[in-house]
Amino acid sequence: MTQVQGPRLLLACLAFLATTVRAVNFTISNGQIYTPGFAIVDAPQPGTPLGGDFLQVAIDVTADGRLPLPADLAAGSPSIIHNITMFLYSYDTKHNFTISNGTAAGNGAALGPIMLQENTSTVKHVNWVWPDCLVGDGQPIALDSARGVYNISIRQNFRLNGVDHYTIFDLPISVTNAISANTSSSSSSSDGSRPPCAELENPLLSPDQVNATAADSVGVLFAPGDATQIQVEGSDTDASGTGLGPSKPTANANDGLGSTGVRAVMPSSVAALLVCIGAALLSL
Ligand SMILES: *[C@@H]1O[C@H](CO)[C@@H](O)[C@H](O)[C@H]1NC(C)=O
Ligand SMILES: *[C@@H]1O[C@H](CO)[C@@H](O)[C@H](O)[C@H]1NC(C)=O
Ligand SMILES: *[C@@H]1O[C@H](CO)[C@@H](O)[C@H](O)[C@H]1NC(C)=O
Ligand SMILES: *[C@@H]1O[C@H](CO)[C@@H](O)[C@H](O)[C@H]1NC(C)=O
Ligand SMILES: *[C@@H]1O[C@H](CO)[C@@H](O)[C@H](O)[C@H]1NC(C)=O
Ligand SMILES: *[C@@H]1O[C@H](CO)[C@@H](O)[C@H](O)[C@H]1NC(C)=O
Ligand SMILES: *[C@@H]1O[C@H](CO)[C@@H](O)[C@H](O)[C@H]1NC(C)=O
Ligand SMILES: *[C@@H]1O[C@H](CO)[C@@H](O)[C@H](O)[C@H]1NC(C)=O
Repeated sequence: MTQVQGPRLLLACLAFLATTVRAVNFTISNGQIYTPGFAIVDAPQPGTPLGGDFLQVAIDVTADGRLPLPADLAAGSPSIIHNITMFLYSYDTKHNFTISNGTAAGNGAALGPIMLQENTSTVKHVNWVWPDCLVGDGQPIALDSARGVYNISIRQNFRLNGVDHYTIFDLPISVTNAISANTSSSSSSSDGSRPPCAELENPLLSPDQVNATAADSVGVLFAPGDATQIQVEGSDTDASGTGLGPSKPTANANDGLGSTGVRAVMPSSVAALLVCIGAALLSL
């Protein structure tokens, strides 16, 4: 540890503190995270440290079986998901990467339409190869590292009972687990190299420009205890388009209205932060 690195490390710790010590409420029941839309996130959980070969996101796109898949709905159904896009962005690292904007690009680096993958499955598993600038292991030390805290930004274009909505749901994660320079053979790129970050980069807009609060005026939907009714019109050949989805399997009387879980800082990240600051102070 050189004397130059100590203060830099301390600054990095303080930046980490500033960006992670923030209370955000999520509506979680039985490990499922409810969103302002039909999608329900099964994985990852908020605040999870992630790494490995891929960023993996699993979302139920039927509000737990209450909305038929688009293939089973008439195009003019009063309720339907038009499309879902995803980005990985961070105001801390100043990146905004395309996970899926509906158009596959860069040899599989940007994924195609999420709603069209696994076409008979109600849960879509997004497997996105981490791009090259996220390679590393552990907390970012260099101040210009692209690793660190991010949001998986899930954007839903849908119609609910005749009204079109566009909502933005930001799920915080930290890119701090190991990401190796080469991906496994199962990755989409043939030579095992990671896609360049630059190919996936989008302009980073300010919170005012994004205006998620306005986009999300519909509010979190379909959490246990929520009584939102869904009107659908089926494609005429399919019985699942009757509008009567199965009952909510995860609901029970104890869940109460909204069942809002309050998530603040996780104890493990506090511990990591204290270790981090301690290391910085020792190296001063
Ligand atoms: C989180 O929920 C609590 C309790 O409902 C509320 O007091 C608080 O304002 C909420 N915080 C945010 C950031 O929405
Ligand atoms: C993640 O999203 C929340 C809410 O939209 C935002 O306040 C926060 O700054 C974002 N975090 C990062 C690291 O950009
Ligand atoms: C998503 O659906 C909306 C509404 O139909 C449409 O305006 C938009 O172009 C679509 N976006 C993508 C990426 O398919
Ligand atoms: C799903 O995709 C397969 C292969 O592309 C196709 O044969 C099948 O008809 C599709 N099913 C539905 C319900 O769209
Ligand atoms: C990683 O990829 C590079 C370039 O494709 C290659 O030279 C190297 O041998 C690979 N390393 C491993 C451990 O596979
Ligand atoms: C979608 O994302 C890819 C990769 O970032 C980009 O090349 C392409 O221009 C984007 N398309 C649209 C319509 O934004
Ligand atoms: C990230 O880029 C996408 C595509 O340009 C944009 O829709 C989204 O608002 C951007 N997110 C942020 C936080 O700037
Ligand atoms: C966000 O959008 C709402 C509704 O369109 C508008 O009233 C508000 O001024 C916008 N906020 C910002 C900061 O642009």
